[in-house]
Amino acid sequence: MMAAGSASGVIVRLDTVDSTQTVAFALAERGAADRTVVIADQQSSGRGRRGRVWQAPARSSLLASILVRPRLPQGLLATLSPMTAVVTAEALRRVAPLAPRLKWPNDVLVNGRKIAGILLESRSVASSEPVLVIGVGVNLGQREFPPELAGRATSVALETGRAVDRDTLLAALLEEFDAWRARLEGEGFAPVRERWKSLSDTIGRKVTVDGVSGTATDLDADGALLIDSGDGVRRVIAGEIATDEMATGDPHAARR
Ligand code: BTN
Repeated sequence: MMAAGSASGVIVRLDTVDSTQTVAFALAERGAADRTVVIADQQSSGRGRRGRVWQAPARSSLLASILVRPRLPQGLLATLSPMTAVVTAEALRRVAPLAPRLKWPNDVLVNGRKIAGILLESRSVASSEPVLVIGVGVNLGQREFPPELAGRATSVALETGRAVDRDTLLAALLEEFDAWRARLEGEGFAPVRERWKSLSDTIGRKVTVDGVSGTATDLDADGALLIDSGDGVRRVIAGEIATDEMATGDPHAARR
């Protein structure tokens, strides 16, 4: 294990792990400081949202977990997740000629395909407040994807012709993370929410999320998605967009 100091935290760099999330929680158990970062070349059991696996060939991706000892009110903790989507989109924009968009709740898309995913997990660790670990997986060097992901996933290499160096992206990601976290802690969710909405690929689309169908109209003050179902506005606090299309109803606008 190699640990390097950065401006505001330790970065633990590993070759192969089961999941950087697991390593980060284990370090938290041993008292690791807030904003400790774990990155790995490869994961044997990378975790995605909703119990899915996150697969990436060795050294193809940025695989990072950030340990957060929260300084936020309980009601705002979940907003770290859309915040990290904003962070990831902003970092990608800085290091590559890309225009990432956000798909609720926290996927980062380029040209309608997923380039990065975010996983927020929380655990109680012995003798301390619950800790959060925010996992970020960014596809950098993949030139192709397994059949089950083809058409839905993309990478920096596929979009721009060349991969970005992982450390370059990590540095940009951590700078954005520190800045947006300070804003979230100082000003609440409003600035993050505005930026999320301006990057959104979801608002204005017809969506179905866990059985609720309608037009996605807004992001609520706690990160919930507001869906106008025709007979009222519903709040969806977690879930997965099963279908989406432009709210114009143009079938050619449907993507993914
Ligand atoms: C998603 O399903 O979209 C979230 C994917 C999150 C993947 C990252 S890769 C680094 C970190 N370690 C994990 O096991 N998962 C997250």
